Amino acid sequence: MAEPIILGIETSCDETGVAVVQGTTVRSNVLGTQTEEHSRFGGVVPEVAARAHIEAIRPLAHAALAKAGVHPEELDAVAATRGPGLSGALLVGFAYGKALAWSLGKPFIGVDHMEGHLFAPRLEHADFEPPAIVVLASGGHSQIVHLTEWGSYEVMGRTIDDAAGEAFDKLARFIGLGYPGGPAIDKASEGGDPTAFAFPRALQDRPYDFSFSGLKTSVVTQLEKAKDSGSVPPLADVAASIQEAIVDVLVAKTFNAVDATGVTVVAGGGGVLANRRLREELANQADKRGVRLLLPSPAYCTDNGAMIAAAGSFHLKRGNVSSWGSDIDTSLTLG
Ligand code: KG4
Ligand code: ZN
Repeated sequence: MAEPIILGIETSCDETGVAVVQGTTVRSNVLGTQTEEHSRFGGVVPEVAARAHIEAIRPLAHAALAKAGVHPEELDAVAATRGPGLSGALLVGFAYGKALAWSLGKPFIGVDHMEGHLFAPRLEHADFEPPAIVVLASGGHSQIVHLTEWGSYEVMGRTIDDAAGEAFDKLARFIGLGYPGGPAIDKASEGGDPTAFAFPRALQDRPYDFSFSGLKTSVVTQLEKAKDSGSVPPLADVAASIQEAIVDVLVAKTFNAVDATGVTVVAGGGGVLANRRLREELANQADKRGVRLLLPSPAYCTDNGAMIAAAGSFHLKRGNVSSWGSDIDTSLTLG
């Protein structure tokens, strides 16, 4: 039997993503980025995001269908992000998706955004199957998930304060790099010395949890100290040292979970997994242990509609469809 054709919609934050996915095959994946609208404010402004989604959603949905060569009637279901995320932003994609599904007489599936990130590696690695350890790191969440079977997620560790992406974004702003901070630090770190500053690696006594708020304090203090002593450290060194501190803990805690569970597959998802140094170090550690590393390409690490369609496809097959009365949930949590 042919795999169902799903339209996936993502509007939880500052990217409007729409995709047509059949099984794990991406037939189209279009994205409307709002970076420019938000960059002059130095971060995401919820009202600006919601308005931009409203303007972008319809043309992007049409573009996704046209690119895929799929007529709306041929869709088997529509999936949209239900949460977590910004309420105004979520509402746009969720309401649009629900209305479209209703008008077509097709099922509608509300998808957990983080479950979408969990499914992202499948888009390019169709044989990605549990058991696996999945490190999820985005602007709002950082988690180590033991994927025991699809639909069953044991969250082994999480951040106790800032998410990894949030740490990148806040620190980038502090050192004068723009929004979004992750890609800016990634780029600025080129040629920098990652050992120039000894920034802290917190929560060493907790194998799977993260904390990034102390890092922020340490960066502020150490840079002020350098300034007081009259030296201006190269930006590349500062960026590389910050990046190394975040990458170090993400990798260490991921492989603590790999070692404890004995899984032979490690995967990742979320915007931070686009980070080049993180990808390199995950690969080094996976090689060392002889475990398989399945990372989405950077475009499927950051928010996109395809990952929502992929998770939606799984739920459709299980018969997990949403009721017409279902609503967004800004604080939806995995597991
Ligand atoms: O998953 P995502 O696109 O949106 C959320 O669900 O939040 O993740 C966005 C986060 C932002 O904090 C951004 O700075 C970070 O991912 N990010 C990166 C890189 N690209 C995006 N962080 C580090 N290095 C990157 N190359
Ligand atoms: Zn995300």
